[in-house]
Amino acid sequence: MKTPECFEILVLNGLVDEVVSRLMSGKEADVYVVQSKGELCCAKVYKDIRTRSFSQMAQYQEGRKGRNSRQARAMQKNTRYGRKETEEAWKNAEVDALRTLTEAGVRVPHVYDYAAGILLMEFVVDADGNAAPRLNDIRLTGAKAREYHRLLINEIVLMLCAGIIHGDLSEYNVLVGRDGLVIIDLPQAVNAAGNNNARSMLERDVENITAYFGRFAPELLSTDYGREIWKLYANGTLSVTSELTGLFKQNDTPADVKGVMREIDYARILYERTLARKSQLS
Ligand SMILES: Nc1ncnc2c1ncn2[C@@H]1O[C@H](COP(=O)(O)OP(=O)(O)O)[C@@H](O)[C@H]1O
Ligand SMILES: [Mg+2]
Repeated sequence: MKTPECFEILVLNGLVDEVVSRLMSGKEADVYVVQSKGELCCAKVYKDIRTRSFSQMAQYQEGRKGRNSRQARAMQKNTRYGRKETEEAWKNAEVDALRTLTEAGVRVPHVYDYAAGILLMEFVVDADGNAAPRLNDIRLTGAKAREYHRLLINEIVLMLCAGIIHGDLSEYNVLVGRDGLVIIDLPQAVNAAGNNNARSMLERDVENITAYFGRFAPELLSTDYGREIWKLYANGTLSVTSELTGLFKQNDTPADVKGVMREIDYARILYERTLARKSQLS
């Protein structure tokens, strides 16, 4: 195909030999198959920031560190410079997350390069070498749905152990590759420790994939891995070998409000006595 303008720099400096085809034009990015150094790979070109809502992005950006304090301050403001920096951070976030997750053993596409706002990564293919379908494009047996659900729950745990929550996990962002499931689309990845919405995002990721697999294996719909995983994470006991049950026991014991008030009164009396003693001494 004719080389789109955005690839010109990459072609000029030899990173891309040829743009083969456009795979997908999504809301936030265009995805192409390109030939790079003699191999087919996938190129993700991010769309302009104006197509995304700034406030929605802010929710994901929380807890992310800017390159420096000037950038961090700019990102908090909705100015032109702030938006540019936010956009850069958004693109880099996907590259960073993909690299961290590959290192942590999560099956995501390998990053080959990131230049001129374009992410060059492994092209995930099916058994015939064509672009891999998304989970949403295939039908599953109950047994396969249970197997894939288990696998993705393990991947979610691996991601969280690496400090990352996908934030938009669903049947649209998992590819069924030749060698198994591959998780994609991570510009919104959330820093688990530094984001106040982390818990609800993790629970939503788990709910999304459970609802999808539940169509083929309805018994999955009564599991609650999200809250179970978060509880272990919050306790500091989550590990890749954690035995998960899919059950979550809510603590229904009523809070001992009177007991807590007694403790507070007691602490206050002690404090007042200390103050009184100090004023007598001085
Ligand atoms: N590494 C890849 N290999 C094969 N296909 C991909 C790859 N990355 C993305 N795609 C295809 O492009 C589509 C859009 O990519 P995605 O990263 O989900 O962006 P968005 O949903 O924001 O447009 C995916 O649904 C998938 O079909
Ligand atoms: Mg997507």
